[in-house]
Amino acid sequence: MARIVVGMIGLGTVGSGVAQLLSQQRQLVLKKIAVRTLDKPRIVAAPCPVSTNVADLIDDPEIEILIEVMGGEHPALEYVLAAIERRKHIVTANKELIAKHGPALFALASEKGVTIFFEAAVAGGVPLISTMHKGLEATKISSVTGILNGTTNFILSKMEDAGVSYEAALKEAQALGLAESDPTNDVDGLDVAYKLSILSALAFGEFVRPPVIYREGIRKISALDIAQAKQMGYRIKLVGITRKVNKNQLDVRVHPMLVPLGHPLAAVSKHQNGVLVRGDLIEEIIMVGPGAGQMPTASAIVGDVVNLASALKLPDFASYFSLEITSNWAELVEAGQYSCPYYLRLSVSDAPGVIGRIGTILGANKISIDSIIQKGVTNNQASVAILTEEVLNSNMDSAVSELLKCDFLKEIESKLRIFRTESDA
Ligand SMILES: NC(=O)c1ccc[n+]([C@@H]2O[C@H](COP(=O)([O-])OP(=O)(O)OC[C@H]3O[C@@H](n4cnc5c(N)ncnc54)[C@H](OP(=O)(O)O)[C@@H]3O)[C@@H](O)[C@H]2O)c1
Repeated sequence: MARIVVGMIGLGTVGSGVAQLLSQQRQLVLKKIAVRTLDKPRIVAAPCPVSTNVADLIDDPEIEILIEVMGGEHPALEYVLAAIERRKHIVTANKELIAKHGPALFALASEKGVTIFFEAAVAGGVPLISTMHKGLEATKISSVTGILNGTTNFILSKMEDAGVSYEAALKEAQALGLAESDPTNDVDGLDVAYKLSILSALAFGEFVRPPVIYREGIRKISALDIAQAKQMGYRIKLVGITRKVNKNQLDVRVHPMLVPLGHPLAAVSKHQNGVLVRGDLIEEIIMVGPGAGQMPTASAIVGDVVNLASALKLPDFASYFSLEITSNWAELVEAGQYSCPYYLRLSVSDAPGVIGRIGTILGANKISIDSIIQKGVTNNQASVAILTEEVLNSNMDSAVSELLKCDFLKEIESKLRIFRTESDA
C-alpha cells in the first residue's frame, strides 16, 4: 500500500504526542519536523530529521500533508498559506489561526484543491468537528452551546469544591500546568471566542470575526456567587453560544452563566469540555471529554491525518471533504436584542424602603422579579440577591444604569445571565 508522507512544524507538547502516535501508523511516514530552536531538550526522541528550516518542509514535493502544531498567528499563517500554495493538505490544532483567517485559508485551499483539517482546534480530544461535519451532515444545526475552555472550567469547579477565591483557584491551575502564567486568553473568554468563530463556520457556513463576539470572562466571579448560585439550584459555568436567529444573523457570545444543576452542562467538571449541538433532526446531542492535554489533542490530530490519508486514495477526494464555508464574515445581532433571566447581587445601605425602590426601578424597565433574598447586614450594608424573569438585555442595561444613580446602592457585585434550556441550547 502506498504510504503518505507527512511533515510537521512544532515538536512541543502536542507535537511530541503526535510524533509518538504517528510512529504506530504504518500507512504514514513522518519525514521532517521543523522547530524554532535545535538546542532544546525534547520530551521524545524525534523519529526523523529535525531542523529550523520550515521552507525545507514546505518545498518538499514528497510531503502531502503538513501538520501545523507550532501555534500563534504569525508566522503560522504565512507557513500554512505557503504550504497550501504548494498544494499540501493541512492538519492544524491552531484555533487562533483558523478563527482569525478562516475565510482566506479556506478560499485558497478550495482554489488549490486541498483541504484543512482542524479537529484538535476545538474541544481537543472530543471528536466534535468530525461529528458536526460528517455525522450531522443531514441535520440543520440551530445552535451550538458549550463549555469550551478547560482552564476556566477547572477554576470554577475548584472555587465551588474547595470554597476558594478566583485567585487561589487560578494559582492552583497554573501550578498544575492547566493555566498559562498570563491567563488572559482563557479567563477573559478569548479562547472560547476563537472556538465559537470556528463552530459558527461549521454550523452556519460563516466564520465570525473574533473581536466582534460579545465576551465576558470569569475574573469577577466570587466564591459567594458560586455558593449562592448553588443554594438557588445553579452552577456557574463559562458558556459559549452560537445560534442562528434569522436568515442572515447569528447570536454569538461567551459569558459566565448560572446553569441549572440538573442540566448536563452543569455536570461537566474540572478541565473537561462539554458541547451541546441542537438541530432539526436530532433535537440535541451532548459530547463531553478532555478539551486539551497532550495525548487527547494528539489523538485528534492523528485521527485527522489518518482520515485524510485514507480519503486521498478516493477518486473524488475534493468533494468528499469539502466544507460549505463562504468567504464572508458572519453578521451578528446586537447583544442588547437578546433576552434571558438574570441573577443580580447588589450591595445596598440597610435602610427602610430600599427593596421597594429596587423593585420600582426593575419594574419600570419591564423586569419582573422571580425571587429576592436579603442576606446579613454588616456596617449598615446589606447584600441583596435577585433572580429575574426573562428580560431583554437592553432593559437590564438601562435598569442597571438607573440603579447606579441611587444613593442606597454601594455596588453591583454581580450581574450574571441564567441559562435557559429551550433557547440557549
Ligand atoms: N497543549 C494543548 O493541550 C493544546 C490543546 C489544543 C490545541 N493546542 C494547540 O496546539 C498548538 C501547539 O500547542 P503546544 O502546547 O504543543 O505548544 P508548544 O509546546 O509551545 O510547542 C510549540 C512548538 O512549535 C515550535 N515553534 C514555535 N514557533 C516556531 C517557528 N516560528 N518555527 C518553527 N517552529 C516553531 C516550537 O519550537 P521549539 O520547541 O524549538 O521552541 C515548539 O516545538 C497550538 O496552536 C495550541 O493552541 C494545544
